[in-house]
Amino acid sequence: MEKITAAITSVGGYVPEYRLTNKILETLIETNDEWIRTRTGIEERRILKGEGLGTSDLAVGAVQEIFKKRGISPEEIECVIVATVTPDMVFPSTANVLSDKLGMKNAFGFDVSAACSGFLYGLTLGASLIESGRYKNVIVVGADKMSSIVDYNDRTTCIIFGDGAGAVLLERSNEGNGVMDSILKSDGSGREFLHMKAGGSVKPASVETVLAKEHFVYQEGQSVFKFAVKGMADVSYELMQRNNLTADDIAWLVPHQANLRIIDATASRMNLPKEKVMINIQKYGNTTAGTIPLCLWEWESRLKKGDNIILAAFGGGFTWGATLIKWAYDSK
Ligand code: UT7
Repeated sequence: MEKITAAITSVGGYVPEYRLTNKILETLIETNDEWIRTRTGIEERRILKGEGLGTSDLAVGAVQEIFKKRGISPEEIECVIVATVTPDMVFPSTANVLSDKLGMKNAFGFDVSAACSGFLYGLTLGASLIESGRYKNVIVVGADKMSSIVDYNDRTTCIIFGDGAGAVLLERSNEGNGVMDSILKSDGSGREFLHMKAGGSVKPASVETVLAKEHFVYQEGQSVFKFAVKGMADVSYELMQRNNLTADDIAWLVPHQANLRIIDATASRMNLPKEKVMINIQKYGNTTAGTIPLCLWEWESRLKKGDNIILAAFGGGFTWGATLIKWAYDSK
């Protein structure tokens, strides 16, 4: 019997209109464009404005594009996985809300909480559902409205994050394309360096937690940076070795867009030239679970059937990982 694989057959993306530039940030906090560019590579980020809009609204834009491009109807979708740390609500899941908003009536869905590595976790889970033979298709979304948990008075975090969503459709394939291999890791002892202090069951929301600004992202940037550089580079290298791939065999690296210096370190460990690395951090900043699918979305027209693509991420938790994909189609 032929092996079933899970191939990406369409990509969608959505970023909101509003551009929060470094120049605007200069008017809000003590910072400057040059510092932000040289330390992070970011020039602007997109922010979702408007009352009552949340992460599911970003995801709606990305998934609608998939329906249109692939010519698939919402009722045909069997499973929806949303990777996010900014769910619309603590419960129900954003996947449920998204399914309702788009009429995916026959799908079951759930959220994955793995911060910046969330899309890779979701992709691996979605692929496994298809490889098991029980499901024909799964939509995997990476979406975050980071502006909802960022303190715009904290210059160490507000310069980094932005809002955005990307999504892929995974479908059953017999051609040997799709998600080929994945190494996923987590280490909960790293949680102290990047987390939200209140709003969970340990410290529920109260007047005190709001006044203490404990519902915003807390990050010890330098510590995270050190772990990220090593973690993302090591796991990407391990994935190459395990699959007997050299830099020449790899068409693209799709790194999580947290900091240009982390991306450079990963590419250099893999011996990959810059031309093979997808970088759009300058336009969107760090959209957490959104970065990797947003890169695939932007580069889709340049991807060719059979391309070996390595996706790599590191994020809060700590969580990190790398996934090898054999691209399944040439864009029309
Ligand atoms: O995606 C999830 C995982 N997250 C990451 O991967 C993020 C990893 N960390 C980073 O990307 C970097 O640590 C940051 C971009 C967050 C910070 O860059 P850094 O080079 O590590 O800066 P730093 O925290 O060491 O700060 C250096 C200096 C400090 O001043 P002093 O003490 O040297 O006088 C900061 O106060 O830069 C100062 N600083 C700023 N200056 C201007 C910190 N933030 C700013 C700012 N503008 N926005």
